[in-house]
Amino acid sequence: MRNKVTVVGAGNVGATCAQYLFEKGFADVVLADVVKGLPQGKALDLSHASPILNTDARINGTNSYEDTAGSDVVVITAGVARKPGMSRDDLLLTNARIVRQVTEQAAGFSPESILIVVSNPLDAMTYLALHTSRFPRQRVLGMSGALDSARFRSLVAMELGASVSDVSAIVLGGHGDAMVPLPRLCTVGGIPLESLLPPDRIERLVARTINAGAEIVALLQTGSAYYAPGAAIAAMVEAILLDRKRIMPCAVYLDGEYGIKGTVAGVPVKLGRRGVEEVIELELTPPEMAALKKSAEGVKELINVMQTGEAKQ
Ligand code: NAI
Ligand code: 2OP
Repeated sequence: MRNKVTVVGAGNVGATCAQYLFEKGFADVVLADVVKGLPQGKALDLSHASPILNTDARINGTNSYEDTAGSDVVVITAGVARKPGMSRDDLLLTNARIVRQVTEQAAGFSPESILIVVSNPLDAMTYLALHTSRFPRQRVLGMSGALDSARFRSLVAMELGASVSDVSAIVLGGHGDAMVPLPRLCTVGGIPLESLLPPDRIERLVARTINAGAEIVALLQTGSAYYAPGAAIAAMVEAILLDRKRIMPCAVYLDGEYGIKGTVAGVPVKLGRRGVEEVIELELTPPEMAALKKSAEGVKELINVMQTGEAKQ
Protein backbone atom coordinates (compact mmCIF):
# COMPACT_ATOMS: atom_id res chain seq x y z
CA MET A 1 0.00 0.00 0.00
CA ARG A 2 1.29 3.44 -0.92
CA ASN A 3 1.65 6.21 1.63
CA LYS A 4 -0.93 8.98 1.65
CA VAL A 5 -0.05 12.66 1.46
CA THR A 6 -2.60 15.43 1.81
CA VAL A 7 -1.80 18.87 0.42
CA VAL A 8 -4.14 21.53 1.81
CA GLY A 9 -4.39 24.56 -0.47
CA ALA A 10 -4.71 23.83 -4.18
CA GLY A 11 -3.27 27.16 -5.27
CA ASN A 12 0.09 27.76 -6.89
CA VAL A 13 2.32 26.14 -4.27
CA GLY A 14 -0.06 23.34 -3.30
CA ALA A 15 -0.85 22.27 -6.86
CA THR A 16 2.81 22.45 -7.91
CA CYS A 17 3.87 20.38 -4.93
CA ALA A 18 1.08 17.88 -5.66
CA GLN A 19 2.34 17.64 -9.25
CA TYR A 20 5.92 16.87 -8.16
CA LEU A 21 4.69 14.30 -5.62
CA PHE A 22 2.39 12.66 -8.16
CA GLU A 23 5.24 12.41 -10.66
CA LYS A 24 7.50 10.81 -8.06
CA GLY A 25 4.80 8.18 -7.54
CA PHE A 26 5.68 6.93 -4.03
CA ALA A 27 2.48 8.23 -2.43
CA ASP A 28 -1.18 8.75 -3.21
CA VAL A 29 -2.05 12.43 -3.06
CA VAL A 30 -5.16 14.21 -1.79
CA LEU A 31 -5.44 17.85 -2.81
CA ALA A 32 -7.81 19.84 -0.59
CA ASP A 33 -9.11 23.39 -0.79
CA VAL A 34 -12.12 25.45 0.28
CA VAL A 35 -12.88 26.50 -3.30
CA LYS A 36 -15.39 24.16 -4.87
CA GLY A 37 -14.12 22.41 -8.01
CA LEU A 38 -10.56 23.77 -7.84
CA PRO A 39 -8.83 20.78 -6.21
CA GLN A 40 -11.07 18.33 -8.07
CA GLY A 41 -10.26 19.94 -11.43
CA LYS A 42 -6.51 20.08 -10.84
CA ALA A 43 -6.39 16.51 -9.48
CA LEU A 44 -8.41 15.18 -12.42
CA ASP A 45 -6.16 16.98 -14.88
CA LEU A 46 -3.06 15.52 -13.19
CA SER A 47 -4.55 12.03 -13.11
CA HIS A 48 -4.99 12.19 -16.89
CA ALA A 49 -1.21 12.59 -17.13
CA SER A 50 -0.53 9.34 -15.27
CA PRO A 51 -0.06 7.14 -18.38
CA ILE A 52 2.39 9.68 -19.79
CA LEU A 53 4.22 10.09 -16.51
CA ASN A 54 4.06 6.34 -15.98
CA THR A 55 2.82 6.63 -12.41
CA ASP A 56 0.30 4.35 -10.70
CA ALA A 57 -0.14 6.76 -7.82
CA ARG A 58 -3.61 8.19 -7.32
CA ILE A 59 -4.57 11.79 -6.90
CA ASN A 60 -7.94 13.09 -5.72
CA GLY A 61 -9.28 16.57 -5.16
CA THR A 62 -11.66 17.37 -2.33
CA ASN A 63 -13.36 20.03 -0.23
CA SER A 64 -13.87 17.59 2.65
CA TYR A 65 -11.40 16.64 5.37
CA GLU A 66 -12.97 13.19 5.60
CA ASP A 67 -11.12 12.34 2.39
CA THR A 68 -7.80 13.27 4.02
CA ALA A 69 -8.23 10.78 6.89
CA GLY A 70 -5.25 8.61 7.75
CA SER A 71 -2.68 10.70 5.87
CA ASP A 72 0.97 10.00 6.63
CA VAL A 73 2.00 13.56 5.80
CA VAL A 74 -0.12 16.71 5.62
CA VAL A 75 1.30 19.72 3.81
CA ILE A 76 -0.33 23.06 4.69
CA THR A 77 -0.14 25.64 1.92
CA ALA A 78 -3.54 27.20 2.56
CA GLY A 79 -3.66 30.95 2.94
CA VAL A 80 -2.92 34.11 1.07
CA ALA A 81 0.34 34.87 -0.70
CA ARG A 82 2.00 38.27 -0.75
CA LYS A 83 1.65 40.87 -3.47
CA PRO A 84 4.21 43.51 -4.43
CA GLY A 85 5.01 45.82 -1.52
CA MET A 86 3.93 43.26 1.09
CA SER A 87 6.26 41.40 3.42
CA ARG A 88 5.61 37.83 4.54
CA ASP A 89 4.72 39.27 7.96
CA ASP A 90 1.82 41.28 6.47
CA LEU A 91 0.01 37.97 6.02
CA LEU A 92 0.15 37.15 9.75
CA LEU A 93 -3.41 37.42 11.09
CA THR A 94 -5.23 36.34 7.94
CA ASN A 95 -3.11 33.24 7.57
CA ALA A 96 -3.15 32.51 11.32
CA ARG A 97 -6.93 32.17 11.15
CA ILE A 98 -6.68 29.85 8.14
CA VAL A 99 -3.76 27.76 9.44
CA ARG A 100 -5.46 27.25 12.81
CA GLN A 101 -8.65 25.98 11.12
CA VAL A 102 -6.75 23.77 8.69
CA THR A 103 -4.55 22.29 11.42
CA GLU A 104 -7.53 21.47 13.67
CA GLN A 105 -9.27 19.63 10.85
CA ALA A 106 -6.25 17.94 9.27
CA ALA A 107 -4.71 16.85 12.57
CA GLY A 108 -8.08 15.58 13.78
CA PHE A 109 -8.51 13.34 10.74
CA SER A 110 -4.83 12.26 10.62
CA PRO A 111 -3.66 12.13 14.24
CA GLU A 112 -0.48 10.18 13.42
CA SER A 113 0.58 12.39 10.51
CA ILE A 114 3.62 14.58 10.10
CA LEU A 115 2.68 18.21 9.37
CA ILE A 116 4.74 20.28 6.96
CA VAL A 117 3.75 23.94 7.17
CA VAL A 118 4.36 26.21 4.19
CA SER A 119 1.98 29.17 4.66
CA ASN A 120 3.63 32.45 5.58
CA PRO A 121 4.90 33.94 7.76
CA LEU A 122 6.39 30.48 7.92
CA ASP A 123 7.96 30.28 11.35
CA ALA A 124 4.97 31.77 13.19
CA MET A 125 2.59 29.48 11.26
CA THR A 126 4.71 26.44 12.17
CA TYR A 127 4.55 27.48 15.84
CA LEU A 128 0.77 27.86 15.53
CA ALA A 129 0.37 24.44 13.89
CA LEU A 130 2.48 22.83 16.62
CA HIS A 131 0.35 24.33 19.38
CA THR A 132 -2.97 23.75 17.64
CA SER A 133 -2.25 20.10 16.75
CA ARG A 134 -0.58 19.30 20.10
CA PHE A 135 1.61 16.92 18.11
CA PRO A 136 5.14 16.29 19.38
CA ARG A 137 7.62 18.74 17.89
CA GLN A 138 9.22 15.94 15.84
CA ARG A 139 6.03 15.79 13.75
CA VAL A 140 5.54 19.50 12.98
CA LEU A 141 8.02 21.29 10.77
CA GLY A 142 8.11 24.19 8.39
CA MET A 143 9.48 24.40 4.85
CA SER A 144 11.90 27.29 4.52
CA GLY A 145 15.56 26.27 4.67
CA ALA A 146 15.15 23.65 1.94
CA LEU A 147 14.01 26.45 -0.38
CA ASP A 148 16.38 29.17 0.81
CA SER A 149 19.37 26.80 0.63
CA ALA A 150 18.37 25.68 -2.88
CA ARG A 151 18.21 29.33 -3.92
CA PHE A 152 21.67 29.97 -2.47
CA ARG A 153 23.05 26.84 -4.19
CA SER A 154 21.55 27.73 -7.54
CA LEU A 155 22.92 31.30 -7.37
CA VAL A 156 26.41 30.06 -6.46
CA ALA A 157 26.32 27.55 -9.33
CA MET A 158 25.22 30.26 -11.78
CA GLU A 159 27.93 32.65 -10.58
CA LEU A 160 30.68 30.04 -10.99
CA GLY A 161 29.27 28.29 -14.06
CA ALA A 162 29.46 25.11 -11.98
CA SER A 163 27.07 22.18 -11.58
CA VAL A 164 24.47 22.66 -8.85
CA SER A 165 25.16 19.05 -7.87
CA ASP A 166 28.57 20.11 -6.60
CA VAL A 167 27.33 23.08 -4.57
CA SER A 168 26.53 22.48 -0.94
CA ALA A 169 25.09 25.35 1.11
CA ILE A 170 22.91 25.99 4.09
CA VAL A 171 20.63 28.83 5.22
CA LEU A 172 19.50 29.02 8.85
CA GLY A 173 17.10 31.20 10.83
CA GLY A 174 13.61 32.48 10.14
CA HIS A 175 12.16 32.60 6.62
CA GLY A 176 12.38 36.38 6.32
CA ASP A 177 14.77 39.24 5.78
CA ALA A 178 16.79 38.14 8.83
CA MET A 179 17.49 34.65 7.46
CA VAL A 180 21.10 33.53 7.87
CA PRO A 181 22.90 32.13 4.81
CA LEU A 182 26.24 30.65 5.85
CA PRO A 183 28.83 31.28 3.09
CA ARG A 184 31.56 29.95 5.41
CA LEU A 185 30.04 26.48 5.10
CA CYS A 186 29.34 26.66 1.36
CA THR A 187 31.49 24.35 -0.74
CA VAL A 188 31.76 23.63 -4.46
CA GLY A 189 33.07 20.14 -5.15
CA GLY A 190 34.40 20.16 -1.60
CA ILE A 191 36.27 23.47 -2.10
CA PRO A 192 35.26 26.33 0.23
CA LEU A 193 33.34 29.06 -1.63
CA GLU A 194 35.45 31.65 0.19
CA SER A 195 38.51 30.45 -1.70
CA LEU A 196 36.72 30.62 -5.06
CA LEU A 197 35.09 34.06 -4.93
CA PRO A 198 36.08 37.42 -3.40
CA PRO A 199 34.04 38.69 -0.42
CA ASP A 200 32.07 41.32 -2.38
CA ARG A 201 30.76 38.75 -4.87
CA ILE A 202 29.82 36.37 -2.05
CA GLU A 203 28.01 39.23 -0.28
CA ARG A 204 25.98 39.90 -3.44
CA LEU A 205 24.97 36.22 -3.63
CA VAL A 206 23.96 36.24 0.03
CA ALA A 207 21.88 39.40 -0.45
CA ARG A 208 20.19 37.95 -3.54
CA THR A 209 19.37 34.75 -1.64
CA ILE A 210 17.73 36.73 1.16
CA ASN A 211 15.78 38.81 -1.34
CA ALA A 212 14.92 35.93 -3.70
CA GLY A 213 11.27 35.64 -2.69
CA ALA A 214 10.72 39.40 -3.07
CA GLU A 215 12.56 39.40 -6.42
CA ILE A 216 10.05 36.87 -7.74
CA VAL A 217 7.05 38.73 -6.30
CA ALA A 218 8.24 41.89 -8.06
CA LEU A 219 8.47 40.02 -11.37
CA LEU A 220 5.20 38.08 -11.11
CA GLN A 221 3.20 41.01 -9.65
CA THR A 222 0.23 38.70 -8.87
CA GLY A 223 1.67 36.31 -6.31
CA SER A 224 4.83 34.67 -5.05
CA ALA A 225 7.14 31.83 -6.06
CA TYR A 226 5.85 28.29 -6.41
CA TYR A 227 8.05 26.05 -8.58
CA ALA A 228 11.05 25.95 -6.24
CA PRO A 229 8.83 25.95 -3.13
CA GLY A 230 6.83 23.00 -4.54
CA ALA A 231 10.03 21.09 -5.29
CA ALA A 232 11.44 21.81 -1.82
CA ILE A 233 8.28 20.49 -0.13
CA ALA A 234 8.32 17.35 -2.30
CA ALA A 235 11.95 16.71 -1.31
CA MET A 236 11.01 16.94 2.37
CA VAL A 237 8.03 14.59 1.91
CA GLU A 238 10.27 12.12 0.09
CA ALA A 239 12.93 12.27 2.82
CA ILE A 240 10.25 11.47 5.40
CA LEU A 241 8.24 8.78 3.63
CA LEU A 242 11.23 6.97 2.15
CA ASP A 243 13.05 7.31 5.49
CA ARG A 244 16.05 8.78 3.70
CA LYS A 245 17.61 10.40 6.80
CA ARG A 246 18.41 13.46 4.72
CA ILE A 247 20.02 16.42 6.46
CA MET A 248 18.33 19.65 5.49
CA PRO A 249 17.45 22.89 7.22
CA CYS A 250 13.84 22.98 8.39
CA ALA A 251 11.85 25.26 10.66
CA VAL A 252 11.39 23.47 13.97
CA TYR A 253 10.51 24.34 17.55
CA LEU A 254 13.73 24.80 19.47
CA ASP A 255 13.97 23.71 23.07
CA GLY A 256 17.40 24.98 24.01
CA GLU A 257 19.32 23.98 20.89
CA TYR A 258 21.59 26.81 19.74
CA GLY A 259 20.73 28.48 23.06
CA ILE A 260 17.23 29.23 21.69
CA LYS A 261 14.09 28.14 23.51
CA GLY A 262 10.36 28.58 23.01
CA THR A 263 10.30 29.59 19.37
CA VAL A 264 10.65 28.21 15.84
CA ALA A 265 13.69 28.74 13.65
CA GLY A 266 15.38 27.07 10.71
CA VAL A 267 18.20 24.71 11.68
CA PRO A 268 19.66 21.56 10.11
CA VAL A 269 17.72 18.43 10.98
CA LYS A 270 17.76 14.77 10.04
CA LEU A 271 14.51 13.89 8.26
CA GLY A 272 13.20 10.35 8.33
CA ARG A 273 10.03 8.32 8.79
CA ARG A 274 9.55 9.70 12.29
CA GLY A 275 9.82 13.29 11.06
CA VAL A 276 12.53 15.36 12.69
CA GLU A 277 14.78 12.58 13.98
CA GLU A 278 17.58 14.84 15.15
CA VAL A 279 18.31 18.55 15.44
CA ILE A 280 21.91 19.04 14.38
CA GLU A 281 23.84 21.67 16.31
CA LEU A 282 26.52 23.23 14.13
CA GLU A 283 29.45 25.03 15.60
CA LEU A 284 28.81 28.63 14.62
CA THR A 285 31.12 31.62 14.84
CA PRO A 286 30.02 34.37 17.27
CA PRO A 287 28.65 36.61 14.43
CA GLU A 288 26.76 33.66 12.88
CA MET A 289 25.30 32.70 16.25
CA ALA A 290 24.31 36.33 16.92
CA ALA A 291 22.57 36.51 13.53
CA LEU A 292 20.68 33.26 14.21
CA LYS A 293 19.57 34.46 17.63
CA LYS A 294 18.46 37.83 16.20
CA SER A 295 16.44 36.04 13.53
CA ALA A 296 14.84 33.77 16.16
CA GLU A 297 14.04 36.83 18.32
CA GLY A 298 12.23 38.34 15.33
CA VAL A 299 10.10 35.18 15.05
CA LYS A 300 9.35 35.36 18.77
CA GLU A 301 8.11 38.94 18.41
CA LEU A 302 5.91 37.92 15.50
CA ILE A 303 4.45 35.07 17.55
CA ASN A 304 3.64 37.57 20.30
CA VAL A 305 1.92 39.88 17.78
CA MET A 306 -0.03 36.88 16.46
CA GLN A 307 -1.13 35.79 19.92
CA THR A 308 -2.18 39.33 20.88
CA GLY A 309 -3.94 39.87 17.54
CA GLU A 310 -5.75 36.54 17.72
CA ALA A 311 -6.87 37.25 21.31
CA LYS A 312 -8.46 40.55 20.14
CA GLN A 313 -10.38 38.89 17.27
P1 NAI B 1 -2.39 30.77 -3.64
O1 NAI B 1 -3.26 31.96 -3.36
O2 NAI B 1 -2.07 30.42 -5.04
O3 NAI B 1 -3.08 29.47 -2.97
C1 NAI B 1 -3.58 29.44 -1.68
C2 NAI B 1 -4.74 28.49 -1.66
O4 NAI B 1 -5.19 28.33 -0.31
C3 NAI B 1 -5.96 28.96 -2.48
O5 NAI B 1 -6.32 27.99 -3.45
C4 NAI B 1 -7.05 29.13 -1.43
O6 NAI B 1 -8.35 28.82 -1.90
C5 NAI B 1 -6.59 28.14 -0.37
N1 NAI B 1 -7.21 28.37 0.94
C6 NAI B 1 -7.46 29.55 1.56
N2 NAI B 1 -8.06 29.32 2.74
C7 NAI B 1 -8.18 27.97 2.87
C8 NAI B 1 -8.69 27.13 3.87
N3 NAI B 1 -9.24 27.62 5.01
N4 NAI B 1 -8.66 25.79 3.67
C9 NAI B 1 -8.15 25.27 2.53
N5 NAI B 1 -7.62 26.03 1.54
C10 NAI B 1 -7.65 27.37 1.71
O7 NAI B 1 -1.07 30.97 -2.79
P2 NAI B 1 0.31 30.19 -2.97
O8 NAI B 1 1.17 30.94 -3.91
O9 NAI B 1 0.02 28.77 -3.22
O10 NAI B 1 0.95 30.37 -1.50
C11 NAI B 1 0.36 29.71 -0.40
C12 NAI B 1 1.07 30.12 0.89
O11 NAI B 1 2.39 29.61 0.89
C13 NAI B 1 1.20 31.63 1.09
O12 NAI B 1 0.98 31.95 2.44
C14 NAI B 1 2.63 31.91 0.70
O13 NAI B 1 3.14 33.08 1.29
C15 NAI B 1 3.31 30.68 1.22
N6 NAI B 1 4.60 30.36 0.64
C16 NAI B 1 5.57 29.94 1.50
C17 NAI B 1 6.81 29.56 1.03
C18 NAI B 1 7.85 29.07 1.99
O14 NAI B 1 9.01 28.99 1.61
N7 NAI B 1 7.48 28.71 3.19
C19 NAI B 1 7.14 29.64 -0.40
C20 NAI B 1 6.04 30.08 -1.22
C21 NAI B 1 4.81 30.42 -0.69
C1 2OP C 1 9.22 32.83 -0.96
O1 2OP C 1 10.28 32.85 -0.31
C2 2OP C 1 6.94 33.70 -0.67
O2 2OP C 1 8.07 32.73 1.14
C3 2OP C 1 7.91 32.73 -0.23
O3 2OP C 1 9.20 32.86 -2.19
